[in-house]
Amino acid sequence: MTSSTSSATEPAEREEIARRLLDSSEALSFDPNTEVDWETPLDTDYHGASPEWSTLYGTAYWNEMTEDQKRELTRQEAASVASTGIWFEMILQQMILRDFYAKDPTDPAFQWALTEIADECRHSIMFARGAAKLRAPAYRPSRIVVELGRAFKTVAFGEAAYAAILVAEEVLDVMQRDWMRDERVVPFVRTVNNIHVVEESRHMKFAREETKERLEGAGWVRRQINAVVVAIASYCIVGSMVNKKVYANAGLDTKRALREAKANEQHKSMLRSSCAGLMEFLDSAGLLTKASTWFYKRANLI
Ligand SMILES: [Fe+2]
Ligand SMILES: [Fe+2]
Repeated sequence: MTSSTSSATEPAEREEIARRLLDSSEALSFDPNTEVDWETPLDTDYHGASPEWSTLYGTAYWNEMTEDQKRELTRQEAASVASTGIWFEMILQQMILRDFYAKDPTDPAFQWALTEIADECRHSIMFARGAAKLRAPAYRPSRIVVELGRAFKTVAFGEAAYAAILVAEEVLDVMQRDWMRDERVVPFVRTVNNIHVVEESRHMKFAREETKERLEGAGWVRRQINAVVVAIASYCIVGSMVNKKVYANAGLDTKRALREAKANEQHKSMLRSSCAGLMEFLDSAGLLTKASTWFYKRANLI
């Protein structure tokens, strides 16, 4: 058996953490139906995301775009990120539901798990309404990623499930923290991001604890396999964030936009710096293996 540098959680401590998360959720949760301003028509003088987070920010193409085009692009990009969020939230709801199937309902962790599923359900509805308000079509991952996700949500368990959940939540977290504070971003999107950041901070705590706990006693082979599984999941999630159709929907030349976005070092460095804490955690959990690092590098997370 391998031991990692991460400390496993004792059962009593695990119960205490779940209880604290439940208390926190009771004290501060949101109903997006009433908290978000859905009524005010979309003001196109605003961005949908902080421009610095655009996949084209800093490129030659960006410098040629009109302010209107830049704002339309960040609105489509924000809608795409929200749509990818819905896709992944559906995966994680199913994984958590499967994980807690027929477990002890008096366990605070069980009640927390259902609370998290309820949060994600509200988030997905909120993202769906948000993307519609941004006048975006349905942005879905590519066919192959949709099918990989279908397999993953059906079979993934233990640390593979919780570490993948953590990656998706962490990657979204940093960008949404920027957008929620940014006065250039349309106010209703800032509210959506604020709600998500607050509620997801509890989910990330739970995912970290579960990942550490499930890895307790995991042998070398299992750790190696799951490290790669999580890295591939991360690669698919990050690669699906911005759908390539956003460019045409913002009135841009898709070919040129894709070429410049792919070579955009500024965007890659935004991603890398936002994932520094996550990579530190994966490393401490023993999930940053040689093979998994290859995928994180390709996804520009490291
Ligand atoms: Fe969420
Ligand atoms: Fe979450």
